[in-house]
Amino acid sequence: MVSIFVHMGQINLEKTLTGYLAPKDFEADLKIELGLMGIEILSQHGRLFICAGEAQDVVFAQDTWLRVEILPYTSINHAAELLKSKARRWSHYSINNHRRAELILDKVPSAKIKRYDFLEEIPKTTIGCFALLSEAEMILTPETTCPLPFGEIEFNEDKINPPSRAYLKLWELFTLYGYKPEAGMKTIDVGSCPGGWTWVLQTVGTNVVSVDKAPLDPKIAALPNIEFKQESAFGLRPQHVGHLDWFFSDIICYPDKLLELVNRWRESGLVDNFACTIKFQKPTDFETLFKFKAIPGSRVVHLSCNKHEVTWINTKESK
Ligand SMILES: C[S@@+](CC[C@H](N)C(=O)[O-])C[C@H]1O[C@@H](n2cnc3c(N)ncnc32)[C@H](O)[C@@H]1O
Repeated sequence: MVSIFVHMGQINLEKTLTGYLAPKDFEADLKIELGLMGIEILSQHGRLFICAGEAQDVVFAQDTWLRVEILPYTSINHAAELLKSKARRWSHYSINNHRRAELILDKVPSAKIKRYDFLEEIPKTTIGCFALLSEAEMILTPETTCPLPFGEIEFNEDKINPPSRAYLKLWELFTLYGYKPEAGMKTIDVGSCPGGWTWVLQTVGTNVVSVDKAPLDPKIAALPNIEFKQESAFGLRPQHVGHLDWFFSDIICYPDKLLELVNRWRESGLVDNFACTIKFQKPTDFETLFKFKAIPGSRVVHLSCNKHEVTWINTKESK
């Protein structure tokens, strides 16, 4: 892997360093976002950007490396001892000397890589992550923000029931991020076809108003507790739907149109919580992304299964 050092040899190791790991193929977006946020990039190693300063909330960071250190090591055993002194569980992000790094990883407790079931408990203990820069120097974090390696989750998928793979976004949001409506709640799913999200919302026991211009998959439409409205979500009046515990949207539209839609529902005062996919064309509309982020109580994340899109969450508790 090619590493780019912006000021190689001048990284001031006294400084607080933070690492931001881009989702696969989104290095360019992460780089732009870091620039827009005024975060100084010191070096880039593939998807990993080492930056000056304390960790900030960066959307195109799939995972964030806290308190990054760059340390010399003399042998595999020495590296393993260093790691063991700094964290309980480790994962390896490969930059250089891959084989050597794997031998080091064999000598320390490692973070389990496995597929999860929907709503399975995620380990709570933090993990460290390291990478070898050379035969004599390693970079490490004793703690990443996500308890799963590289901020990614893989599921034991349901290949039978959901009509599209979009359901994985809600599985991730509910399982890894812990945002989930309770059984008996009223939810709306706009831009719902063919029905993956509506299926998830129905399986967790909510009463779903499902809205799309296109028809729902008949298998999903036949399930109980789903009221399907075949119309444009932009014409729907909040007052005609009434109070909602959760507003979900995976609608295909420009980010500024989604912001308008969301603002209409926020201003109605009828919705407690939101989770919406913001879908981008090229180039990424950072201006609107930052407007979503600025809404009080908001969090914007790039889910493992988000492609050129991110997920905006706004909950009653976080306001
Ligand atoms: C990515 S798909 C949604 C996939 C869905 N979440 C699932 O799990 O199967 C986006 C949907 O947005 C719908 N859409 C686009 N414009 C719309 C509008 N004005 N009103 C309602 N739905 C719309 C499309 O018909 C399409 O079904």
